[in-house]
Amino acid sequence: MLEIVTDSPAQTEELGRRIAQKLGGGEVLALFGGMGMGKTAFTRGLADGLGISSGVSSPTFALVNEYHGRLTVYHFDMFRVDSWDDLYSTGFFDYLDTEAVLVIEWSENIEGALPPDAIRIEIAAGKTEQERVFQIEGIEP
Ligand SMILES: Nc1ncnc2c1ncn2[C@@H]1O[C@H](COP(=O)(O)OP(=O)(O)OP(=O)(O)O)[C@@H](O)[C@H]1O
Ligand SMILES: [Mg+2]
Repeated sequence: MLEIVTDSPAQTEELGRRIAQKLGGGEVLALFGGMGMGKTAFTRGLADGLGISSGVSSPTFALVNEYHGRLTVYHFDMFRVDSWDDLYSTGFFDYLDTEAVLVIEWSENIEGALPPDAIRIEIAAGKTEQERVFQIEGIEP
């Protein structure tokens, strides 16, 4: 497990960009951390690192956004998902075991459905307004 502290949204995006370079396709990135912790900022950087430069926002109503760059990314928001039926309807299981990268905001809500080899990224508040503490398991940025 690796701990990285960022001090601005730009630094969080940069971390996402660095992790993007390590992806080969087929990974599940499970993001944990409450509202405003920077899950979408991180995903924006990750997408940018894959050559996807616009359109990344919390897929709160769509539940999933799809982006195409060096790899295909399915970006989920599980904030409102609280049953297996809900989870099935996001398409999550259809995209597992494909060459796509799955990025999952609010992974807390689907903990039991995460594959055992998911890359886990937990974000917590730091000591200042702008600090975010990332705990990363399963990949080295
Ligand atoms: N170090 C930092 N990293 C990322 N965001 C930061 C940081 N410091 C401050 N912020 C601010 O925190 C907010 C992060 O928003 P973002 O949408 O990425 O969070 P989120 O975790 O996706 O929230 P939600 O659960 O509502 O989707 C932004 O307003 C951003 O400006
Ligand atoms: Mg978000």
